[in-house]
Amino acid sequence: MINKNEVEKYLKFYNSGFGKEVLNEELEFVESRLKDCKTVLSIGCGPALLEARLHQLHPEMNITGLDISKQMINQVPKSIPVACGDAQHLGFNNNSFDAVLYVTSLEFVKNYKGALKEAHRVLGSKGKILILMLNPQSSYFKEEYKDRDSYIRKNIKHTNVEEIKEFISKYFFIENEEYFLGIKKGEIVASKNLGLASLYVVEGKKDAR
Ligand SMILES: C[S@@+](CC[C@H](N)C(=O)[O-])C[C@H]1O[C@@H](n2cnc3c(N)ncnc32)[C@H](O)[C@@H]1O
Repeated sequence: MINKNEVEKYLKFYNSGFGKEVLNEELEFVESRLKDCKTVLSIGCGPALLEARLHQLHPEMNITGLDISKQMINQVPKSIPVACGDAQHLGFNNNSFDAVLYVTSLEFVKNYKGALKEAHRVLGSKGKILILMLNPQSSYFKEEYKDRDSYIRKNIKHTNVEEIKEFISKYFFIENEEYFLGIKKGEIVASKNLGLASLYVVEGKKDAR
């Protein structure tokens, strides 16, 4: 359970110069992948800062957020409809969304397999799944993980991204995987190098065959 202090710490990060740059990079990336989708479900949306910015860029896009933490949901801007719930049991009908998005959240979900099955269920035919995960091989991750008080260390449930990808491929046709968002000594650098890229991205389709 995330407490109020942790949420404040989390928001402080996104208010810092570095946090703002990270958000800008993530937003640009997600926007380039989802700009043609009309209905998007962001699972584990946290304070939904990226989702709110995406909505500003695409007011025609219907973006719904979902998170298990009430403390996080309390921070979500009014422009984003949000549900409090568990990724493993989504309260949405089958075929409800054009895209399901996970921004550094799937690896924080206890039963990520159940969550992926649910994502598959609520996606429409040819629906898109976009998953941004922390790259455990990056120096950014390693530094954060060393700190016993960091949000990542305290809350992450899975660090084997290869195993997660393997499971994704059982349910989705994987169209792209890449390393992204290089971070070196607290600064963003243009690098997809495994040791520098803080994120590992998997992009797939529900039915492509
Ligand atoms: C690292 S945060 C990412 C938040 C946001 N996507 C971002 O990029 O700032 C992980 C989020 O996943 C949420 N989460 C963890 N387990 C969950 C579950 N079973 N169902 C829904 N959300 C969950 C947490 O509450 C938290 O908000």
